[in-house]
Amino acid sequence: MAIDPLSNARSERRWAFAMVGAAMMMLFAIVWASLSPHMNPPSNIENVDPNTLHIAGEFTEDNLGTQVDAKGRVTTRIVTSQFSFAPECVVVPQDMQVTFRFVSPDVIHGLLVVGTNINTMVVPGYVSQVHTMFDKPGDMLMPCHEFCGLGHSQMVAHVRVVPIADFKPDENGRVACAEH
Ligand code: CUA
Repeated sequence: MAIDPLSNARSERRWAFAMVGAAMMMLFAIVWASLSPHMNPPSNIENVDPNTLHIAGEFTEDNLGTQVDAKGRVTTRIVTSQFSFAPECVVVPQDMQVTFRFVSPDVIHGLLVVGTNINTMVVPGYVSQVHTMFDKPGDMLMPCHEFCGLGHSQMVAHVRVVPIADFKPDENGRVACAEH
């Protein structure tokens, strides 16, 4: 069968338009995601020794969870490990800037909270940091989204967003989920 060179050229032009269109849509999606919901790749580079996380420094057990510092800044620290989060539940205030800091002592984990800009990998040796603000109260799930072993699918944390009126730090500036 003879190939019509003209129809070939038309077909190529159609595909070229389609490809340019697809590339423009992807570019638009990237620019929109970074400007509007502030979804950016994490840019914080901060080293931490994964072997001594539990012994000394910022991520010892009694320093985990949500804390309000003297300047009123809210920071939530979480250790992700095979196959749980410590703590498994954190409380954060609604409509306030919250800084999440994650570390891992063992393998690469990842986490996200759907509908927010929280979406990062947690690599041993580094602190993953995300700034965010929650605009409505509620209990949100934060699952691990990086395959980390057999228990990966069981690995989930709760982020409890409460109205500012219900966000009551204790004398050490700490707020924790109520025990069940
Ligand atoms: Cu941790 Cu998957």
